[in-house]
Amino acid sequence: MEHYDWNEGWLFTPRFDPALVRPECELELEPVRIPHTVRVLPYNYCSENEYQCLCGYRREFFAPREWKGRTVLLTFGAIAHDATVFCNGRRLFHHGCGYTAFTVDLTGALHFGQKNVVAVRCDSREDLNIPPFGGQIDYLTYGGIYRAVSLDIKEPAYLRDVFIEAKAEGDFRIYTSTVGETVGCTLQAEIRSPSGSLAAYSGELSLPITGVLNGVHPWSIEHPTLYTLTVQLIRPGSAGLPDRVLDEKTVRFGFRTVQFVAGGLYLNGQRVELRGLNRHQSFAYQGYAMPDSIQRLDAQILKKDLGCNAVRTSHYPQSPAFLDACDELGLLVFTEMPGWRYIGDESWKAQALQNCREMVCQCRNHPSIFLWGARVNGSGDDEAFYKRTNEAIHRLDPTRPTAGARNHRKSQLLEDVYAYNDYSCRGRGAACEARAAVTPDTRKGYLISEFGGQQMPTKPFDDETHRLVQALRTAAVLNDSIAQQGVAGSFGWCMADYNTHREFGSGDRICYHGMLDMFRNPKLAAAVYASQKTPRSPSDIVLEVSSGMALGDLPGGAPTACWVFTNAESVRLYRGNDYIAEFSPDRHGRFAAMPHPPIEINDFVGSLLEKYEGMDPPSAQAAAAILNDMRRCAMELSPLSKARMLSLRLSWNEVARMYCKYIGILGSPSPVYRFEAVWHGRVVGTVVREPVQSVRLECTVHNPILTDGPTWDCAAVSLRAIDQNGNLLPYCGEAVQLRVDGPLKIIGPSVVPLRGGMAGTYLATTGEAGRAVLHCRMEGALDTDAVLTIRSRENG
Ligand code: GAL
Repeated sequence: MEHYDWNEGWLFTPRFDPALVRPECELELEPVRIPHTVRVLPYNYCSENEYQCLCGYRREFFAPREWKGRTVLLTFGAIAHDATVFCNGRRLFHHGCGYTAFTVDLTGALHFGQKNVVAVRCDSREDLNIPPFGGQIDYLTYGGIYRAVSLDIKEPAYLRDVFIEAKAEGDFRIYTSTVGETVGCTLQAEIRSPSGSLAAYSGELSLPITGVLNGVHPWSIEHPTLYTLTVQLIRPGSAGLPDRVLDEKTVRFGFRTVQFVAGGLYLNGQRVELRGLNRHQSFAYQGYAMPDSIQRLDAQILKKDLGCNAVRTSHYPQSPAFLDACDELGLLVFTEMPGWRYIGDESWKAQALQNCREMVCQCRNHPSIFLWGARVNGSGDDEAFYKRTNEAIHRLDPTRPTAGARNHRKSQLLEDVYAYNDYSCRGRGAACEARAAVTPDTRKGYLISEFGGQQMPTKPFDDETHRLVQALRTAAVLNDSIAQQGVAGSFGWCMADYNTHREFGSGDRICYHGMLDMFRNPKLAAAVYASQKTPRSPSDIVLEVSSGMALGDLPGGAPTACWVFTNAESVRLYRGNDYIAEFSPDRHGRFAAMPHPPIEINDFVGSLLEKYEGMDPPSAQAAAAILNDMRRCAMELSPLSKARMLSLRLSWNEVARMYCKYIGILGSPSPVYRFEAVWHGRVVGTVVREPVQSVRLECTVHNPILTDGPTWDCAAVSLRAIDQNGNLLPYCGEAVQLRVDGPLKIIGPSVVPLRGGMAGTYLATTGEAGRAVLHCRMEGALDTDAVLTIRSRENG
């Protein structure tokens, strides 16, 4: 058994020519590294025509004589979207799904002891008769060999697949499938626990290996314990010869049990409230073609920064690196078959079924996956077709339920779970629909597979009111889905902004539906998720204040609502050196069902009137109530405030003077506001809002240590303009000039504008190891540098 990474040495042409597949080829070709995109796109205003092409890849290699009599398997992690593979001019394989892996047996076409050539005809045009194509699609589909490629040299008999079903109680079943002549062969299986202890089992090829492992640590969201299974295919020795290991496969897995009871999800017998986001696997400039570390970062952001416990890989199976990270982090995954709203003809459906089978076989050992999407997202009913997808999925994986995300109520429920894209939130009344009004069978599972999205597209550079609406609506749906009995939870639409087709988005080919921008910088609404984390230490405390406290940003100069998104126990507000008030989450209010309800800051006066106006405490309190009430109502006097004025014998002039002094109008001197997060009696976080005095450019490299190999690697960089107190400056739109010294290449432009005070870039490794420095320069701010280390796989 030999394994080779095959991500180097490829040549590319954007226009396929039949000459490409021939052993000798004179075409002008471009050397490329995998993952590869057929076209690097601009950030926005890109065109979906740019990446649609019939293109080609070619790789020459030497097949040593020792390979003779063995099996040579070439595996592509993913090619978007339709791929035909040739070896030495012979057409060997065709694959029609851009989101699943496939393996080509090259053996019969090889010339041993000679040069060989593999070529790929790659079709990324959107008129293909395969999923997700056929209708309009709200995301770009890109093109190219965008996941890793590898070559395996095996014996003529080998293990094609290993699948382990493992329950929380420790009982397991191992299924294997083999290729080639295996008469008389046996299997050896070894399960290794995280502590290194081993348990060995043996079995026959025709039956699953079953057993019970005592004292297992189940895989859960809090403790995602992973075990490994190694299966060997063995040819018993004869005539004094020892046994021979023909093949060996190692997979990671977890012991866990998934059930839906009366709508809700139970993991290992415990109710889990799903709090998740939908994820597209696309990135600025590169589309799908990003290496593993960038895929893994997304899982970390979801779990660690946003506090999610689940993700939906809308609308297709995503990279194994992303799923591996979900396994390690304890992030539940709802993975679905490729597609978007459209169901095609019989040939399209046959491909869709094949996609379902590949999705399950390739992903089923991941303990994080708890649910399979057996329907094309948002499609109508099709009884015959969806009976088949459900059957195919259940046959290949009897352990997990199926669901299907629909946009309609009471659609036919052939799955175990009704997944509903609930876009009913209008900002008033209930923020999600009643489960009983949606699902035809309340005994089955129920979850909200999407909400938000097109209801409130929000750009990071939208005004404060708009950004706050996105955040509050997100909170409202989270709250109402938790409050409703029998709802397993929700997946917001969506994690990050994404490039889309002309029929969708804001006219610039971007759907601004994310909690994060395309570079994964957080918008205000991200704090709604982040603040739901259970804090274990002061560093887990989130404190995000919705308002910039700049009156001129708001219509009529009237202040708007001010909300704090926090998981602290309370928030204290100071004005200058004066303490105003302490605010705690309202456990009976609009967001009472959330673990950490957002807090409305509704008192900006406190006891200031007592201190500075010489009022007695009850009068000071009543007068403060008038001012706070006026602040909420754009300086209007409510009947209650009028009544209070009368009883306090305050004139309008007097009230207006105090309003100007303690709340402020356009032109009033700007006070300094300080918000403190209090946790376990201590101040663990502070936000200061005061006029901006200086602008700083902050540069964060999320993964400053890179490894070139087995593919190129990439660093994700965030840029933010902040003030002297570390506050984001949402209207800073300066250009940032980027320059790298050392072996890294900037992907996309080297001058990037800040959008909503934020930007990002990606830095790709070049094959060389060393140290690199990213220099960022912005007019009006000091230059910032970031240091990166690049290792190559050889030198560790
Ligand atoms: C949904 C769809 C998503 C996305 C979203 C936008 O209907 O399933 O893919 O387009 O709308 O809000």
